[in-house]
Amino acid sequence: MIVRGAVLREMGLPSPYSESRPLRIEEVELAPPGPGELLVRIRAAGLCHSDLSVIDGSRPRLMPMLLGHEATGEVVQSEAEGFAPGDTVGFAFVPACGACGPCAEGRAALCEPGAAANTAGTLLSGAHRLGQLGEDLPGQVHHHLGVSGFADHAVVSARSAVKIDPDLPPEIAALFGCAVMTGVGAVVNTARVQAGQSAVVFGLGGVGLSALLGAELVGAHPLVAVDVVPEKLELALSLGATHAVDARSNDVVEQVREATAGGAHYAFETVGSAAVLGQAYAATRRGGTTVTVGLPHPSQMLSIPAVSLVAEERTLKGSYLGSAIPSRDIPRYISLYKAGRLQVDRLLTSTVSLDNLNEAFDMLAAGTSIRQVLVL
Ligand SMILES: NC(=O)c1ccc[n+]([C@@H]2O[C@H](COP(=O)([O-])OP(=O)(O)OC[C@H]3O[C@@H](n4cnc5c(N)ncnc54)[C@H](O)[C@@H]3O)[C@@H](O)[C@H]2O)c1
Ligand SMILES: [Zn+2]
Ligand SMILES: [Zn+2]
Repeated sequence: MIVRGAVLREMGLPSPYSESRPLRIEEVELAPPGPGELLVRIRAAGLCHSDLSVIDGSRPRLMPMLLGHEATGEVVQSEAEGFAPGDTVGFAFVPACGACGPCAEGRAALCEPGAAANTAGTLLSGAHRLGQLGEDLPGQVHHHLGVSGFADHAVVSARSAVKIDPDLPPEIAALFGCAVMTGVGAVVNTARVQAGQSAVVFGLGGVGLSALLGAELVGAHPLVAVDVVPEKLELALSLGATHAVDARSNDVVEQVREATAGGAHYAFETVGSAAVLGQAYAATRRGGTTVTVGLPHPSQMLSIPAVSLVAEERTLKGSYLGSAIPSRDIPRYISLYKAGRLQVDRLLTSTVSLDNLNEAFDMLAAGTSIRQVLVL
């Protein structure tokens, strides 16, 4: 079939994207699902900084690629057990094979064939189901993290999909696949913050605000929010942060340490900057844990006093996909949202259409939006 979607052909075009237009809205050929795969009518797809990092080249991927990895839709055709036409699904941006070493240890985010498929821009099976139309542009279009949600339809591995509650508005449901699973999971799965422990979140985008919601949910206190955008600090305070620190000030670490009586038990870095990760580490207390969620350019290095890990029993941990088991966590977080315990709707800035996706990425780059969601 022919689908309409947003294809990136070249990374690193200059901003503003409203002028350079890195995302081209094209007709692309979508092959039918193979064994273990689903054809999904995409309803909504969120714009994440990880999409922007492919566009600006800081997270290089194979070109051309149909972007979008945080989405929801309805199954149209199922070639997999456990899914039927009409099912509402969300996606995890790492498919989990269920059989490799990390999968066997319950660490689905680290699935080895899943990571290999994502690097190769294929589905878990190794297949490309996206192709270019026309003789002047022959060849394949790569899948983005097994999802490629910026199109009206997608073929995905069933191991990228999770059945979800059909009652949610699609523009809210989409957010659970990346922002919420990553941010809340960093708190509840990776860090396992306990009630009454202090936490600080550096960076209040979709991922960081989800971490803040998760920290509030589990009773982190005090709870400090750090960003360069005053409106985001205001929003964080209304979502349960006890303190807000403007990252443009020159004593950010001191302000966090003061708010947390000598340093936080847990610091979360959700910016994607090694410099901010250094601040997060410095803002923890003796015995504290720094969780890094942001994805800096591969060239960025972190330098910390090595002895502090030992003599101060500090911990530095990475968190990918919120250390999630997606089929367990996405439905869990959705039920918390429905019970009013996780205000995911507050992350939604606006909905956008395919035709103004480039302008929407300018807004994300400028920090003037949280989650904008493409509605199809
Ligand atoms: N680990 C994972 O599994 C995973 C999943 C999704 C996204 N990510 C990464 O997480 C990061 C955040 O993603 P997002 O979509 O929320 O991005 P975003 O652009 O919406 O949010 C980043 C926030 O950081 C703020 N910021 C910028 N400089 C700052 C500074 N010096 N101090 C404090 N705050 C600062 C920005 O104002 C913005 O609010 C990105 O690097 C993304 O690639 C990681
Ligand atoms: Zn993402
Ligand atoms: Zn696996």
